[in-house]
Amino acid sequence: MARIVQELESALPTLTKAVFSQPTQKTSMQKLTVRPLLLRGERLWQSERQEDNKAFHQNLTDTALLACVRDELEGAFRQVLIQTETESRQYVLKRDGSYKKTGASAAVPRPGGAEAHDREKDYILREGEVIPALVDLGVFTKDYRIVHAKYDKFRQINRFVELVDQTMKKESADRIRILDFGCGKSYLTFILYWYFAVRRGMSTEIIGYDLKRDVVEHCRQVAARYGYDGLRFEVADVTHDTLTDTPIDMVVTLHACDTATDYALAYAIRRRVKNIFSVPCCQHEINGSIRKGGELDLLLEHGILKERVSALLTDAIRAAVLESEGYETDLIEFVDFEHSPKNLMIRAHYTGRRRPGGREKAEALRERYGFEQSLLALTEEGAQNRE
Ligand SMILES: C[S@@+](CC[C@H](N)C(=O)[O-])C[C@H]1O[C@@H](n2cnc3c(N)ncnc32)[C@H](O)[C@@H]1O
Repeated sequence: MARIVQELESALPTLTKAVFSQPTQKTSMQKLTVRPLLLRGERLWQSERQEDNKAFHQNLTDTALLACVRDELEGAFRQVLIQTETESRQYVLKRDGSYKKTGASAAVPRPGGAEAHDREKDYILREGEVIPALVDLGVFTKDYRIVHAKYDKFRQINRFVELVDQTMKKESADRIRILDFGCGKSYLTFILYWYFAVRRGMSTEIIGYDLKRDVVEHCRQVAARYGYDGLRFEVADVTHDTLTDTPIDMVVTLHACDTATDYALAYAIRRRVKNIFSVPCCQHEINGSIRKGGELDLLLEHGILKERVSALLTDAIRAAVLESEGYETDLIEFVDFEHSPKNLMIRAHYTGRRRPGGREKAEALRERYGFEQSLLALTEEGAQNRE
């Protein structure tokens, strides 16, 4: 049993950060962060309140900070993080109004001391961030450092969440529902949950789908261990099985194999899902079915070129279909090639403004070169009905 005001008071001499997130009531304040501040030689505490996607700052003395915690914050947030120069502690609110400590670790020292924090770039996900689920998933060590072999994956998920953040900063919703197709070990799924539920304090539901029963079971156990109630994992083949029919705000895929990406995009298009972030993986379908038929034949002579052309053509067609369905679409280099050769992200936002022409060009190429492409096929009926 812990009272946050007491925990914070004892941590004050070396406090580097405190974060109150996930409000218990529907209030305008989504999150409050406290950091030390040196003002004309006096140590104060800067509180940053996030309200309706705006940040409000206030400088407080020790007494004012503790009064604010006691009178306003205690019991009003489900998650609290207290970070000192030597330790990081995480607390979760219990039904009886007290807090349970769910994680503690040695803190990663910041060069230049606590106040230097303000000068650092605000990365979404830092080494040293207390996210115990990432330890269970094998991305962080017990003291929240990146496991060496997982560095590329860490870069990928960090960049993915950065790109999601760029879009979400412009939106003011306080709840979100996301589907992750081919979630696998679910590093991304957990981080997205942490980003929306803990960092942004939004009411968050995410469903991760994957073929592999054992992986899904492991993810369920990790989610349950950390009380991530809004995070669900389901065994499903996204190319066959019936998926949820509740309204969804975002679809994500990260290296979902081959046509699983097309099924995710088709699902999103059918339901007019507002935001799509999709990093495709092995684009075998066109490579396996394309035959010679015209000017592109030169590019199909050599296996390695044929594979690359097929991959580029696949993503060009996906972008064209999305644009023809009313999505503003960008193709972004998602991470450097050295961190993943499958490094393109399709980012699409539904505006309802259709961009004609691309789909027809893709269909003409399909006709001429005889290839199969699932997204073209899956969205054919809708396109024909519009004609
Ligand atoms: C390369 S892993 C990527 C996993 C995860 N998104 C990540 O980036 O760490 C691809 C995952 O997609 C899953 N997958 C492939 N085809 C699928 C399908 N038709 N339905 C559901 N999951 C699928 C695989 O089981 C595998 O876990």
